[in-house]
Amino acid sequence: MTEDFLPIKGMDHVEFYVGNAKQAAHFYRTGFGFANTAYSGLETGNRKSASYVMEQGNIRLVLTSALGPDHPIARYAHLHGDGVGVIAMEVPDAAKSYEESTHRGATGVIPPTEEKDDFGVYRYSAIQCYGDTIIKFIDRSDYTGAFAPGYVARESDAERNKNGRIKGVGLAAIDHMVGNVELGAMNRWVDFFANTMGFSQLLHFDDEDISTEYSALMSKVMQNGNGKVKFPINEPAEGKKKSQIQEYLDYYYGPGVQHIACSTGDILATVTQLQENGIEFLRVPTTYYDVLEERVGKINEPVEKLAELGILVDRDEEGYLLQIFTKPVEDRPTVFYEIIERHGSRGFGKGNFKALFESIEREQALRGNL
Ligand code: FE2
Repeated sequence: MTEDFLPIKGMDHVEFYVGNAKQAAHFYRTGFGFANTAYSGLETGNRKSASYVMEQGNIRLVLTSALGPDHPIARYAHLHGDGVGVIAMEVPDAAKSYEESTHRGATGVIPPTEEKDDFGVYRYSAIQCYGDTIIKFIDRSDYTGAFAPGYVARESDAERNKNGRIKGVGLAAIDHMVGNVELGAMNRWVDFFANTMGFSQLLHFDDEDISTEYSALMSKVMQNGNGKVKFPINEPAEGKKKSQIQEYLDYYYGPGVQHIACSTGDILATVTQLQENGIEFLRVPTTYYDVLEERVGKINEPVEKLAELGILVDRDEEGYLLQIFTKPVEDRPTVFYEIIERHGSRGFGKGNFKALFESIEREQALRGNL
């Protein structure tokens, strides 16, 4: 076993660049159950942008919008719509992460930087990822502030669990984060994660696995040394009509993050609450549930309840998983969420691809994009 040259403690945060962070924060609070725990903006001396740190379980999202038209974040949101600008990982040494990855061919975006305030030293660096997305390395081991220098803590009366995390609707952690890249670019990004960051390939799906009559894609799943971070990468494949990945690329105006999968320990309770909050999910035909037990065997959850909520099930040699996908959370058919509960399976729901993609195609057809 070779030493991991880029050790990662886990995901630190995901930063969205949006048109109106104040309204997005409200959506993530009332829809998805996040609490606003820190803020940066005009009131804190930030003259250029406004950011809301939203937390739930071990998940931290940052929603940022620009305060003027020439800010790079304004240009990002203008081109891509609301989307993920930054994938941030917590590392033991941000300078070493930058040196190791750029030395191996990654393009540097932010050289190792230190910011200090009354709460200590916050260290970070960043490299370029697919499209206009960047990967940030963050070392907060000498920092005790709310989020980062320039942010103030926001008190929330949201309920917390035993370990002090925001309970919300029960979303616990980011299970995986998927990127969509152009036709023919998947292997280049697989090599990027392997060569510059020391990731290895966990799984791959070809267009035989993932094709319906119309919509095809190929996918490879990359994970870091300790398996804490998983980044599947999709590219469109030739089908009779437009691939769902191509629809994303057309509306995002380039590659970017397609979906963020959040784990929960109780998907029935989580999805019930999300649906009550008005979050919209993809649905499969009810016939999916007629043959479910035949396909996946015995599971702990009542099938009627899964059918009522639209939750999908898949099984492999190691166990089973439950999953459900939201509709895109913007007007453009781009970024969406997955809610997942794992019972042993480390897969991604391959057995659901067909039913799911037929459901996606029905939505694509409604949008006039099939
Ligand atoms: Fe997924």
